Amino acid sequence: MKTILITGAAGFIGSAVARQFIDETQDKVVNVDKLTYAGNLQSLTSISDNLRYKFEQVDICDAAEVARVFREHQPDAVMHLAAESHVDRSITGPAAFIQTNIVGTYTLLEAARSYWSELDSARKAVFRFHHISTDEVYGSLDDSGFFTEDTAYEPNSPYSASKASSDHLVRAWHHTYGLPVVTTNCSNNYGPYHFPEKLIPLVILNAVNGKPLPIYGKGDNIRDWLYVDDHARALRLVLEKGKLGETYNIGGWNEKTNLEVVQSICAILDEMLPHNAPHAKLITYVQDRPGHDRRYAIDATKIANDLGWKPQETFETGLRKTVEWYLTNSDWVRGVTSGDYQKWVSQNYAKRGTA
Ligand code: DAU
Repeated sequence: MKTILITGAAGFIGSAVARQFIDETQDKVVNVDKLTYAGNLQSLTSISDNLRYKFEQVDICDAAEVARVFREHQPDAVMHLAAESHVDRSITGPAAFIQTNIVGTYTLLEAARSYWSELDSARKAVFRFHHISTDEVYGSLDDSGFFTEDTAYEPNSPYSASKASSDHLVRAWHHTYGLPVVTTNCSNNYGPYHFPEKLIPLVILNAVNGKPLPIYGKGDNIRDWLYVDDHARALRLVLEKGKLGETYNIGGWNEKTNLEVVQSICAILDEMLPHNAPHAKLITYVQDRPGHDRRYAIDATKIANDLGWKPQETFETGLRKTVEWYLTNSDWVRGVTSGDYQKWVSQNYAKRGTA
């Protein structure tokens, strides 16, 4: 039984990883999360009473607290998912991205290095620092080609530049100090528990509520969609079997224009909520995102060949599951859209303390 310290496990991808570890393994999970607006403990209610799950409300920029968490929980591995992740927010307010994604990663690396250097040789040999990053570090593609692990970094937004910086820090801590790291760069995730500022959950909830479905520019930008549980499975595999110092790209082989994505959501909702059909009448073209990357597409051959991973969901099956989830999980949706999820956290954790 291992102890996995997951930063950002109250977030969208982090919570999927934490749920999988508790549900599918005997490992322990320590969730280290600051609980910004995107952190939601209601995404973890299915595992929060499990004795193998612990929560620490800690900012990864707080060196003393991070060191305490390492000392108290003695992790065998770190999976670093805590990050500011929304491109639009990085354009209007880059400071938080520099702080959390760069300074936070640096602080965590230093805490991990200090902890790791004191481990006995057996534990030192198995320790891993897994840095979870994004394909946006590679910049934008034209109509052809894919991002591979050898693609040069060309980040275009404050968000992607901050993630690129964090990737470089992780690489440097491996080469300079020998910290045992693996890095993954993923394409656009979607699925249950996704905060509704991102395209797919925003469009589902707006469509259900009869609100406009905002499409930036002409809707012809292309993203490569990856179902979040497929991503979580890939991350666990890389943690277990990935080669030290290596990078693995993780993508869903699902390239779609934004307009295709929105139209697919509308078609599913037309079936599930026929009284509001056609939902596509709500599509509204709005001003484009500044510096909007045109196309992302991941070549996920390396992780398939070296580690045997492939996604289980097609875009069609994953999107249908996602829409169904948002229609049937009205408590979670109500919490997020009303802001009550943050009150819920303070009420529950004021009572229980960190468990
Ligand atoms: O590629 C991985 C990245 O995917 C992650 O690193 C980011 O953290 C994650 O946010 C996501 O970035 P995007 O900018 O691609 O995701 P977003 O959902 O914001 O937008 C997806 C596409 O939809 C993008 O081309 C912009 C467009 N869009 C987005 C919103 C929110 C719209 O047309 N309308 C919208 O209202």
